[in-house]
Formats: sequence, C-alpha cells, structure tokens
Amino acid sequence: MGFGKVLCLVVLSLSLSLNISTCSKLLENCSEDSDCDAGLYCFSCPQGFIGKKCVRSSPTNPFKLLNNSLPFNKYAFLTSHNAFAIDKEPSRTGVPRVTTTNQEDTITQQLHNGVRALMLDTYDFDGAVWLCHSFGGKCRDFTAFEPAIDTLKEIEAFLSSNPSEIVTLILEDYVTTPKGLTKVFTDAGLMKYWFPVAKMPQNGQDWPLVSDIVAQNHRLIVFTSIKSKQQSEGIAYQWNFMVENKYGDDGMKKGSCSNRGESSALNDKSKSLVLVNYFRSVSVKLLACGQNSQNLIDMLQTCYGAAGNRWANFVTVDYYKRSEGGGAFQAVDRLNGELLCGCNDVQVCKHGSSTCTR
Ligand SMILES: *[C@@H]1O[C@H](CO)[C@@H](O)[C@H](O)[C@H]1NC(C)=O
Ligand SMILES: *[C@@H]1O[C@H](CO)[C@@H](O)[C@H](O)[C@H]1NC(C)=O
Repeated sequence: MGFGKVLCLVVLSLSLSLNISTCSKLLENCSEDSDCDAGLYCFSCPQGFIGKKCVRSSPTNPFKLLNNSLPFNKYAFLTSHNAFAIDKEPSRTGVPRVTTTNQEDTITQQLHNGVRALMLDTYDFDGAVWLCHSFGGKCRDFTAFEPAIDTLKEIEAFLSSNPSEIVTLILEDYVTTPKGLTKVFTDAGLMKYWFPVAKMPQNGQDWPLVSDIVAQNHRLIVFTSIKSKQQSEGIAYQWNFMVENKYGDDGMKKGSCSNRGESSALNDKSKSLVLVNYFRSVSVKLLACGQNSQNLIDMLQTCYGAAGNRWANFVTVDYYKRSEGGGAFQAVDRLNGELLCGCNDVQVCKHGSSTCTR
C-alpha cells in the first residue's frame, strides 16, 4: 500500500464527518486506484487524455437508487461480450491458448462491478460443456477457456449473496449433447433461480415486475441461440424475446443500426427486449477505452430510433471497464434515466423528472 492510498483513505474517513473529500474525482489525476473516490479507479486512456485519471468502475444500480417495482424490460443492464474470454486466464487444457480475449476481469469481478448480463459461448468439449472460442467451427484445446461449470458456480455464488439482483445469460450455443446445458446448470446449483420460459412475454407485453421476479427467486434469465432448445429443454430462444443489432464492425457504423440476421427487425415490438452490441469484430484492448465513450452513447440514440423509439435494455461491450471517463457505465445510466424517468441520467430520476434538464 503506497502513501497515497493511506492518505486518501484517512482523509476519506475524516471527510465523512466534515463532508469534504480529497480523494480525486472523475477525470482528476491519480497514480493508483485508491487515490480515486468510491466508484472510480485510476486508468490511462491515451486516446482520451494525458496521463492517469480517475474513471468510473461501476454503473448506478437503479434498484437501489430508485426501486425495483417496474417490469424487467423497463431497466437497462450492462452486458459483457464474451464474458469468459478473459485475459491472463490460465490455460485449463495444458496447451497454451492462441486466441483473442474480450475482457480482463473475472466473472465474479464483472458481477461485482455491475455487469448484469453475460454473453457466453458454449461448446461440447472434452466430455463436458466448455466456454470457448471456435476454430474451424469447433472448440480446440488452444481456444478453450474453462469448463462452464466453474463460471456457472461463480454466478451461483453471486446470486446467492446478492438476493435482489438478476443475472441474464445470453448463450451463443454450440452444445449438441441432449440436455447438456440442463445438466451443467443443474450441477452448478442454478436451477433454483431459473426464470421459466412460460413466464416470458410472447407478444410484446411487459415482463414481470423485478420485485416479483426477486420474490419468486427467478433471478437467472437464460437465452440460447438454438431454437429447438426452447421446446426440448425449456431454455428461451433469444430471438423470440429480443431484438438485437448487428455485432462487430457492422454494429459500429455511425448513424446506422439494423438487426443481425437471426433477429427480427429492431422495430418489431412483439419482442419486448432490445439489445445493442458495440464492439469491434476483432477486439483490440488498447482501443476499447475510446470505443466505450461518446460514440457508444451516440449509437444508443441511433438504435433508439431504429427500434421504434425504444431504449436498449442491454448494452454489450468489450473490456467493459475501459473508458475515457464515464464509459459503458455512463451509457447504462443514460439508458436507465431515459427508461425510468425520461432524463438523460438515472441519477436525475431520484429527484423526480420535474427537475430533468435535457
Ligand atoms: C495532470 O496530469 C497531466 C499529465 O501528467 C499534467 O499535464 C497536468 O498538469 C496534471 N493536472 C493537474 C491538475 O495536476
Ligand atoms: C419506482 O421508480 C419509478 C421511476 O422513478 C417511479 O416511476 C415509480 O413510481 C416508483 N415506484 C414506487 C413504488 O416507488
């Protein structure tokens, strides 16, 4: 622990009574994380600023700031693209990994920092379900990240210690073993949180209230990309319930937002959820902080129009914590502000929308 950390912590505890803080605020200089106010960390983004500055490390939790009494589809959630493809994750196959990564925090860290939806690629591999990138259409020992059971157990631990939170999983699913997913979710102890397909709105109606979802403990919402599994395993087929824009470079063209092939048109209101992807086809860690910035917020506005004046419920990014200041967290706060009180930041909703300046 450096001197700066001790000083900042001491002054912070004093400041509780004095109501001042000498820890650095958003976009002020810093040399380490502990120099920054709560909810910020010390980061360098050469595209955005010189040196190291405090930037955000979590979104505002709308359930805590306001309440959770609205339908699930009236809230927005930060989503990590390829949440499992984590930098420096040790090889679990004994063979060095040769593939790209999209995140750098563990799943547990992602959840603690406010990520509430995870995109995971599931494959049959080595007699089990693994999270993996494909090479030639298959999971290989040099593209595999980890057995799905390990990640799912991290999610189980989060749900059990955070009884008011909901986690959504969006599976790019290549598992063909019959009931392969059902088995791994059961083994991970997650079936007790399972949100039943039968309760999902089929025709553009609102989802159940978050408070009811929490009361019934149906706090794990899972979507698969394989249509037949809705019938055979009770796992919701994603595009029966959600529209989604193009992903990769096609989803980053300024001013343009159109559906990916599997999704119906963005303005199809028979699907109650809207997901916006905003990440490059080939992830580049050093570019992520510039991506997760104003251009992302502009795209949310573009997709709002394309989706028939509907704000996104899920915003999906690479390296979710990298930004020029507010990043993907500010984007989610914007969405929740728009969804919950028609203001451009959820923080404003607390004081009632009458104070909303736009
Ligand atoms: C912050 O850091 C930058 C780059 O190191 C420096 O140019 C600037 O003067 C610093 N600002 C303050 C207020 O200390
Ligand atoms: C919950 O928050 C929303 C958004 O601010 C508000 O419209 C609603 O009236 C609140 N509900 C309750 C029960 O407080």
